[in-house]
Amino acid sequence: MLTVGIAVMSLDGCLTRHGEEGAGFASREDQHFFAETLGTFDCMVMGGAGYRASRARARVTPAPFRVVLTREPEAYTAEAQAGVLEFRSDEPAETIRDLARRGFARCALVGGARLLTASVKAGLLDELWLTVEPVAFGSGLRLFEGRVEIPFELVGVESLGRHTLLIRYRTA
Ligand SMILES: NC(=O)c1ccc[n+]([C@@H]2O[C@H](COP(=O)([O-])OP(=O)(O)OC[C@H]3O[C@@H](n4cnc5c(N)ncnc54)[C@H](OP(=O)(O)O)[C@@H]3O)[C@@H](O)[C@H]2O)c1
Repeated sequence: MLTVGIAVMSLDGCLTRHGEEGAGFASREDQHFFAETLGTFDCMVMGGAGYRASRARARVTPAPFRVVLTREPEAYTAEAQAGVLEFRSDEPAETIRDLARRGFARCALVGGARLLTASVKAGLLDELWLTVEPVAFGSGLRLFEGRVEIPFELVGVESLGRHTLLIRYRTA
């Protein structure tokens, strides 16, 4: 199964604007790209915090199949939908292995920072697709937390709009 980390960040590597939740700074071009690209994946994984930040706005569609990692899956019984939206308490590696066993072919790992960091440290990401918006925040959640050293190779760069870049990397 191909596993791709996908995120939008400021030019100084922030996933959030200062202490705010969500990625409200994402341009319309990125939002369009994100919606389109999600349609090319058959499953996606997100962290509990990212899910809570986006659930009011995000429409749950039948595809891709969504998995939310949380230490308290039982707190979401009312929101879970069989085959559509699943909550589980598992390490990212076990989740990815399970999705591959279940026959999924393309998994989007959509953050936030803690999930992306744990996943990259565990060697789960095949690729990382980053939208870079033309803004600097100085403070906010960083793409990766703590001390990591992960080499990547550039796959390609494209413009999503006049000021917004999409950079695709693969893990080296
Ligand atoms: N700019 C972007 O592209 C982007 C993308 C995604 C999210 N975000 C933003 O990033 C923020 C969230 O990021 P974050 O780093 O704080 O959190 P996160 O990575 O979204 O989620 C961390 C949470 O995931 C759950 N989790 C992680 N590993 C787990 C494991 N092994 N077992 C069980 N549960 C596990 C826990 O949820 P529980 O707390 O439920 O136990 C943990 O608190 C939000 O503000 C969100 O809007 C931005």
